[in-house]
Amino acid sequence: MNVKRSSGKKIAVLISGRGSNLASLIDACARDDYPAQIAVVVSNRPAAKGLDIARAAGLSAVAIDHTAFAARETFDAEIDKVLRDHDVELICLAGFMRLLANDFVERWRNRMINIHPSLLPAYPGVNIHERVIDDGVRISGCTVHYVRASMDSGPIIAQVAVPVLSNDTADSLAQRVLSAEHQIYPQALRMVADGTVRVSGERVVFAAGEQEAAPLVSPLMVTG
Ligand code: GAR
Repeated sequence: MNVKRSSGKKIAVLISGRGSNLASLIDACARDDYPAQIAVVVSNRPAAKGLDIARAAGLSAVAIDHTAFAARETFDAEIDKVLRDHDVELICLAGFMRLLANDFVERWRNRMINIHPSLLPAYPGVNIHERVIDDGVRISGCTVHYVRASMDSGPIIAQVAVPVLSNDTADSLAQRVLSAEHQIYPQALRMVADGTVRVSGERVVFAAGEQEAAPLVSPLMVTG
């Protein structure tokens, strides 16, 4: 993993577990021309493996254990304080498995994005890959979107389609989707951080002349 550099929009990455998407963002932020830097990584689970990834990369890594807070709002307020202490401008949710309350979501409106392992608005929530396989769906994928208060909703920035194979298990499909996640999240964050995309009328619009199609097609499908 590369060492972070310090220029570009200051972002916070919020995680709950493994942190593989965090790792892909750390790598992206290490590139010379990347328009974002990670100011802090926050986990609601103190044992999250992603905190070790953050520390190994020399980043500030903070655990805010949600079980220590009686109300969602006080937990959110503690996160907000850490973000303000680090001058955060943009939030990336990367496997952060807590719902944030409306006040927090509104405070960070259009400055908070999330990655989800389905082609939203299909399959919000959990156990996505099991449900996709049970339904016999042939194409799944992943989505990066601006965050709104209801779970896994908000204006869509980028999506990658991933084939569902007849012998897939939830694990094998999750792996294939995860590889796509690691490609699309850095691309989507770049577009948000450098102003290529913005929200207008609850849809994402691209700055004039920008290439819209690149993140939309899965390279995994170009196999003849
Ligand atoms: C990823 O697949 C991410 O899309 C998903 O959790 C996983 C986290 O993995 N997020 C959601 O389901 C949000 N609704 P990671 O910790 O290795 O990045």
